[in-house]
Order: sequence, then structure tokens, then C-alpha cells
Amino acid sequence: MNRSNSPETGFIDPSGANADAIQDLTEDVLNQLLEQLETANDRSPLPDVSTVPTGTIPDSPRSETDLLNDLETIVAGSMNPAHPGYIGHMDTMPTTVSVLGDLVASAVNNNMLSVEMSPIFSELEVQLTETIASEFGLGPNAGGILASGGSLANLHALSVARNQAFDVHDSGLAGLEGEPVLFASDVAHTSLQKAAMLLGLGTDAITAVETDANSRMKPSELNQAIEQAERDGRMPFCVVATAGTTTTGNIDPLPAVRDVVDDHDLWLHVDAAYGGALIFSEPERDRLDGVEEANSVTFNPQKWCYVAKTCAMTLFADLDVLQEDFRIGAPYMRGDDAIPNLGELSIQGTRRAAVLKLWLTFQHLGREGLGQLIDESYRLTAVIRDRVANRDALELASEPELNIVCFRATPDWCLPAERDALNGRLQRHLLSKQDIFVSLPTYRDTRWLRVVLLNPFTDKMTLDRLFDGIDLFLEAERP
Ligand SMILES: Cc1ncc(COP(=O)(O)O)c(C=O)c1O
Repeated sequence: MNRSNSPETGFIDPSGANADAIQDLTEDVLNQLLEQLETANDRSPLPDVSTVPTGTIPDSPRSETDLLNDLETIVAGSMNPAHPGYIGHMDTMPTTVSVLGDLVASAVNNNMLSVEMSPIFSELEVQLTETIASEFGLGPNAGGILASGGSLANLHALSVARNQAFDVHDSGLAGLEGEPVLFASDVAHTSLQKAAMLLGLGTDAITAVETDANSRMKPSELNQAIEQAERDGRMPFCVVATAGTTTTGNIDPLPAVRDVVDDHDLWLHVDAAYGGALIFSEPERDRLDGVEEANSVTFNPQKWCYVAKTCAMTLFADLDVLQEDFRIGAPYMRGDDAIPNLGELSIQGTRRAAVLKLWLTFQHLGREGLGQLIDESYRLTAVIRDRVANRDALELASEPELNIVCFRATPDWCLPAERDALNGRLQRHLLSKQDIFVSLPTYRDTRWLRVVLLNPFTDKMTLDRLFDGIDLFLEAERP
């Protein structure tokens, strides 16, 4: 093939003809990247985006020097989750091997669509999801499929739950005698609404169940909501419990929710996108008690297991449901392998081999490494929680159950109507003066400061800076 218009390093020549030039380019990119990552402390946790490279497409190849310069600018202006003061979102710096795993996965460019397109990776994904499902205690027939994020994982679970309940895989919803409805707490993730909308149920199909003062679904309210829906002639089919709510990190009471679900013979999905990581913590694991009774579970190792984005999964207690209530066969693929073509069982068709970075991370850190990271973040969480509780001017949104602390400033000299603005100013002050990024979610109709303690390099000194910043700010604002 005539490649004379492409640069010499356009592709890695499989005969090794451009080995030296490829070596130089990859070394240059990696060296520059490492230099930036190894000085991430010197940049803001959330740098200003000063320059965005042009989005136009050049007629002829640009020089590698130009590209390196642009790459440097892009990294310098990117969100900087490696900074120990980046404690605002469920976004973490990635494990080293997950970065390298992504590089390898891109280099071999296999496709999880079918076994023949990803022979090793398909086998690895089947094995690893079975292992993780068994860590959740989901039983001997459990397993799962990776997805690009928790929203897709939730959509996958709800589509199977819907198809199984109403047998609508082929015929669709039009012939149903009532409206299918599902239940989730009033602080459950918004991806459930997207899923209901995409599944043809509409967002109104989700009944938001009231939560207690700590953001945990009230089982009695759940029961009443299901009974009311039944009286109204609607057709309940699924309850979603959350193990790790997005804003405050609380966990619905899984055993009590399961009891209600059983009484009504519904599907239980547990959205453990965030809290699922507790399966790796000896001391904290029992917070997930009851998850083993779920029909399906969403779990995002891209969050608290530090795997580079994206890496999420849907686990099913009975993997056969995927064959019966989801599978769409692809005639152009060989079908005689011992394991299924994963693209026939997942929402995504072509999909990268995210399993490699997940597998590498587990191999490299082991249970002990992962468990320690989780347990250490609990230690720091307790420090923040106590410091908030000990300050009259601060208020906790809920009692922390994971490594998330959501709180706000409510000094007695600030009118309730002024509190949102005050907390907004406090958030900006912490970033500009203390190099600490906390997020500013809206929760129960007001703004809160939210700390997510994921960064392995965040320490007590970072927390001292956080509270020094809060104290100084409130002192300066006091009228
Ligand atoms: C509880 C919960 N579920 C689902 C999601 C959606 O995950 P993703 O953003 O990977 O689609 C999130 C994201 O934060 C979450 O916190």
C-alpha cells in the first residue's frame, strides 16, 4: 500500500523497518508525560484551561515536535487527580499498571465483540467477572460483562430485569396491560433515569423512595410505594438499592430492602458502582451484607479500585438470564467457542479490552494492596468527619459510611438564604489559596462541600490545609 503521504512513524512497521524512529517517538512522548506526572504536585488540582489546541484537520502531517508541544499543553491544562489536594470527585489517579495496560490494549487493538477478535481477553473477562461476582457472593452461576461506565452497566441490568419480568425482548412494550415501574431511593444516581428513558419506560416510571437523615432508603416507604403502584394498576418489576450514593456515599439497608423485594417477587439490582470496592476490605466488607442476594450488581473499578477510566461491569447472579433475556446473535461471528461472544450479550458491540488494566491492577496490588488503600481512606475520613463535627460553623450532610464526607459551612452570622453563595466562595477560596479541590454538589436543595478521599497521596497535612483554609475563610468573612 502506498503510504508516502504518511509520516515515517505513522504505524509501527510489523517488519521492524522503522524501529528506531518509533523508539525515539515513544520515548519522547513517555519521557515528557512522566516528567509532567512526576511534577503533578506543582500544578493546581484543577488547572485553568489556558490553551486548547486547534480542532481543525491539517492537510499534511504535522511535525512530531509540534505534536509533543500540544500534548504538553493538553496535560498541563487537564484535571489533575494525581494532586493530593484533588479530593472533589470520584475520579482518581490511576494505578501505574492500568495506564500501561491501556497502552498494551490499544497497541494490540483487539475487540471484545467476539471470541475470535479477542481470544485471550474474552476468556480473561469471563474468568475475572466470575471471580468478582463470587467476591460479591452472588452464587455459583454468577458472572458478568464489562461496560464503559456505570451508566451503561445500570442500563444493562435494568434491560435484562425488564425483559425477564415482561417477556418483551421480541415484542416490545406496546402490548403490555399496565405501566412497568421501578423503585430507587430519592438520592439514587441519575443514570437510572436515563436507563428508564432509554428502555421506553420514561423517567416517570421510577418512583423515588424517601430516604432517612443519612440518605438510606426507608424500607417501609419502599413497601408502601410498591403497594400503592400495585393498587394503581401499575406493574412493579425492579428495585434498585444503592451501595454508595454519589453525593454522600451512604448505603441502602440491603437485607431489609431484599425482604421487601422478596415479598413482592421483584428483581433486586444493587448499584454498587462506588461502594462495591468494599469487597476488598476485611474490616469494612460487612457494610455490603445483603448484596449477595441481588439479582444484578453494578460495580465500577474505575473509581475506588484505581483502574484507569473506563472500567465498569454488570454482574448477574444467574448468567443464563443474559442468554435468555438479552442476547442478540451475530450471524457473522463464529459461534462454536466454549465461551460466548461477549458482544452478543452486552449493550456495546465493539469494545476495547478494558479487562487487561483491571486484571493487571488486581495482580499488581493484590487484595492486600487494595484493602490497605480502602482502609487508609477510612482513617482519613474519620479525621475529617470529627473535625467537621467539632466545629460549630460546619454541618455534616450525613454520617459517612464510605470515604466521602459531605458538609457545609453554616455559621450563625450567615442567613440561610446566603449559605449557598458562602459555600461557593469557600470552595473557590480552597482551590485558589490552599490548592484543595472539593466539589460543590446540590443535595436536598442546597449546596454542600464534598470530599472524596481517593488519592493515595492525600495525607493528614492535606487535611490540615483544608481546615486551615476553612477557618481562615470563615474568619475573614465574618461580619
Ligand atoms: C452510584 C453511581 N451509579 C452510577 C454511576 C454512573 O457511573 P458512570 O459515570 O461511570 O457512568 C455513578 C457515577 O458516579 C454513581 O456514583
